[in-house]
Amino acid sequence: MTMSTTLLILGCGGFIGSHLVDRILSATSWKVIGVDVQNGKIARFLDNPKFTYVNLDVYDSAAVRKLVAKSDIVLSLVALCNPSLYTTVPLRVIEVNFLRPYELVQMCADMGRRLIHFSTCEVYGRTIAGFDEQQSDDPARYVLSEDTTPLIMGPISAQRWSYASAKQLLERVIYAFGQEKDLDYTVIRPFNFIGPRMDFIPGVDGEGVPRVLACFMDALLFHKPLMLVDGGLNRRSFTYIDDAIDAIMAIISRPGQARKQIFNIGNPANEVSIAQLASMMVRIYKELRPELNDCEFEIKAVSSRKFYGDGYEDSDRRVPDMTKVRTLLSWEPKVDLETALHKTIADYIAHYAALAECRKAG
Ligand code: UGA
Repeated sequence: MTMSTTLLILGCGGFIGSHLVDRILSATSWKVIGVDVQNGKIARFLDNPKFTYVNLDVYDSAAVRKLVAKSDIVLSLVALCNPSLYTTVPLRVIEVNFLRPYELVQMCADMGRRLIHFSTCEVYGRTIAGFDEQQSDDPARYVLSEDTTPLIMGPISAQRWSYASAKQLLERVIYAFGQEKDLDYTVIRPFNFIGPRMDFIPGVDGEGVPRVLACFMDALLFHKPLMLVDGGLNRRSFTYIDDAIDAIMAIISRPGQARKQIFNIGNPANEVSIAQLASMMVRIYKELRPELNDCEFEIKAVSSRKFYGDGYEDSDRRVPDMTKVRTLLSWEPKVDLETALHKTIADYIAHYAALAECRKAG
């Protein structure tokens, strides 16, 4: 990595991309070419001389190819990653998460560019925990390891797995390009990153069903019930975005250790059930808005069929094995869930609470 290293970030305008651009511009001398069709989350970087924003549809392969040629490292963040889409527009999900990035992988191999690809912890699928008859409270029993754990998908009619299957097949393509064409790649499997600017609030700055954190924020801000899909028993290991960005920076900066590796980026200490997450968020929201202390926030169960429609299944437990990130990247997450939620909820309040009050009054 030199002062003049140029990174191409496809999908720079999303949640992870916007935090990554922020860190790179503030902490390094690298140049960034950022591609996205949206720039609301990166508006404050548009005038930065180290940042070139390109408003481009990543489907424009000829234009993307020219940008790849100008870069040293390509980071691929473009994805449709909200579960509500997996069962409703599965063809588009497969196209965006497999067919289009396949072309990018090929370009990187052809041009000898280093590729850092963002996959997902969802490739582990239904996970080994669901097949254990003696359910244990010990998360260590269920850790998911990058190079050894089987990836378990549901049946084809359960279209929930359209996304995970697309992502898994792309990982296999990347691996094969590494084997046959010596592609220099790193695959990242994010485990439920959370933080400011995640997803959107439906009807305010986006449409549809976002991921759970934004769903619960929508409920808190607009006094709707927090919905627990199938009782909120499934568990996730939430990772604060600043920790995640530290790990991504370590991957970019350590090409030798990261070469041809798959990494979990997650925080096993932050594993909770979705029901626990809902209770924590209600409590922290009230702490941050003491004027609402007397308000009741309803938490209620809903069937996955009613919430997401037919074809929805779920991952039960996702606990990352940390051995590889510790050994090769010397990375360890630092932010506990309480702190992560506190910071994230405070940021959502700063951005949306005035609007929430207005709507309530109106
Ligand atoms: C999604 C993507 O599919 C993954 O690729 C991605 O890695 C992951 O988000 C992530 O953020 O890293 P998932 O964790 O299932 O996976 O997404 P969420 O929509 O955040 O759902 C988490 C859990 O909360 C699920 O069990 C879901 O059923 C539940 N949920 C969601 C609720 O109980 N209530 C809601 O209002 C929304």
